[in-house]
Amino acid sequence: MKEQILSEPVKAKLNSLIGEELKAMYTYVYAANWCQNAGYLKAYDFFLKESGEEKEHSEALQKYILDLGCTPELHQIEAPEFEFETLTDVIYAAYDMEVSLGEQYSEFASEVVSVDAITLTKIQDFIKIQTESIGFYGDICSVSQGLSNNKFEQLMLEKALVK
Ligand SMILES: [Fe+2]
Repeated sequence: MKEQILSEPVKAKLNSLIGEELKAMYTYVYAANWCQNAGYLKAYDFFLKESGEEKEHSEALQKYILDLGCTPELHQIEAPEFEFETLTDVIYAAYDMEVSLGEQYSEFASEVVSVDAITLTKIQDFIKIQTESIGFYGDICSVSQGLSNNKFEQLMLEKALVK
């Protein structure tokens, strides 16, 4: 029989992070749909691609659990509830979500640092991904500063988002 390398608390936290990645996947689908309706057609494609990447992140965590002889548990994913009025709102929501995910990975890394070096190494990959996302959306938030809700100015913001 295969050995189960992951402890129960580590498994529970990994399962919850899989849920968070899938929630991010949903959030980006929601963002993409809002963008399409509001006429930000490039942002629609962009956020659908982001959504696909979040799905891949959840799969990478699931594969990690499987590699270590355990079975991932899937949680219920809540439907996103945002009230976007502008593309700026969407970008800030993405930024906040990526920051929150980054904080969760960082907290998890500090929990496993002296007890589970294998998981720590895996989580460090995700901290790197989060750092890049936080940096990216942070930059777009900076671009949005001073822009009004005027459609023309919001379309300029879309240009900064989707190069
Ligand atoms: Fe992710």
